[in-house]
Amino acid sequence: MMITEVVLFGYFMTCVCADGVADVVLSCTLVEDGVGHHGMGAAFTRTPATLVFKDVAVAPEESLETLTQFVPPSVPDPDLILFEAQVSSVEFPGADVLLHADCNEQEVMCEISRYAPRGSQGGSDPAYFMVSINVEGVEFSSVLILQTTVVEKDHTTLMQSKLGLPLSQSGCLPTEVIFLVFSHVKSVNAPLSGEVLLNCGFKQHEKVSSLDVGIEWRMQHRGKGHKVFDMKTRLDDAEGNTVVHAERTGSSMDASGVAGEGNVSVTLNKVQVSDEGSYICTVTSGLFHAQQVIQLHVTQPPHVSLSEEKLVLKKESPQTLSCHCSNYYPLDAQMEWLSMSPTDTEPAVFPDQGSLSSHRQHSDRTYSLSSHLAVPPTVPPGTKIICRVSHPALDAPLSLSVEVKSPEQDSYLIVLGFLIVTVIFFYNLMR
Ligand SMILES: *[C@@H]1O[C@H](CO)[C@@H](O)[C@H](O)[C@H]1NC(C)=O
Repeated sequence: MMITEVVLFGYFMTCVCADGVADVVLSCTLVEDGVGHHGMGAAFTRTPATLVFKDVAVAPEESLETLTQFVPPSVPDPDLILFEAQVSSVEFPGADVLLHADCNEQEVMCEISRYAPRGSQGGSDPAYFMVSINVEGVEFSSVLILQTTVVEKDHTTLMQSKLGLPLSQSGCLPTEVIFLVFSHVKSVNAPLSGEVLLNCGFKQHEKVSSLDVGIEWRMQHRGKGHKVFDMKTRLDDAEGNTVVHAERTGSSMDASGVAGEGNVSVTLNKVQVSDEGSYICTVTSGLFHAQQVIQLHVTQPPHVSLSEEKLVLKKESPQTLSCHCSNYYPLDAQMEWLSMSPTDTEPAVFPDQGSLSSHRQHSDRTYSLSSHLAVPPTVPPGTKIICRVSHPALDAPLSLSVEVKSPEQDSYLIVLGFLIVTVIFFYNLMR
């Protein structure tokens, strides 16, 4: 079977705007996958392509002046690959992200492949394409399915040379966005035992709207996968015909949101370390299905404590001070010893960084770690010894400190000396 894959790698070129709508233009690369050359595996060929989203709704406050006009080539060229996609008939989530990607110098990665609806024969009319859009550095990604629209053919109609599809008068491949699945998160952090919402949504063209919708959430981690949640529903009667399987206990979805707005976000409660992984949201609607992947990271900040409340130095031997970091996740915690003498204005890294215990892992898969520092008797009294802990779950490093007191023996001797002097004094007085 021959599969044509079109990968559009590009970023914003231009945009034409009028009356609250704009055209969004992506400069792309077409990649075809198919016949292996010289008996080798499948090879990819890359060809530049362009994708124009027509009539994307723009917020009224949007300044349209900076946007220039997209002009199709004056002479239609059958070798150019110019997709024109109507989005006015479906809501187009992320339009604002795409509109501003250029200004914000964010690269838009866009990948198109030929798409075969379920149960269809290859090469059927209309043709379908799947477009994956990812904006670098932005929490948005989307997969769209394009369906070619009818071109009135006459003797002047050109055929696109690579795809074998008829071009419009202006040399474009006219299509409509008929189905899309999107997410406003690529990666999400959840606190241990907390609750997390994994965002996913879909939109479909009314013309091809299917009432039967299937939603499946799967989880994958280190090559292993399992189902988390699935729902089969009918959009006209969400109550009566909805079948839900929450494979993971404590996973839920709002059925009214599914029928109402295509909101297929899933909520996981009592998050455990074992919930960490990639979550795949697959929406199936009639002949079409598309998915989104969201990474879930579990984070739990360490509980930090010091072994001593006060540090009274001995005269000869060093005094041990321990800093304990407990029940944190993930593993990468960093501990650092600092000191600040009464004359210092800022803490300085302590010359000795102590010795670390090995990591201990608890039954909830969180970790603990301790650092033991030998504080030498040479440290001047009044100095603060600080344990500073950094961890991804902490916004800023956490510091605990203890102040060094002068050696105990000295004060003991002073008290003893004072007592002796006093006793002698009174003894003399009473004679
Ligand atoms: C989608 O549904 C969830 C509840 O399942 C809700 O928390 C969230 O706000 C909804 N998202 C939107 C965009 O309405």
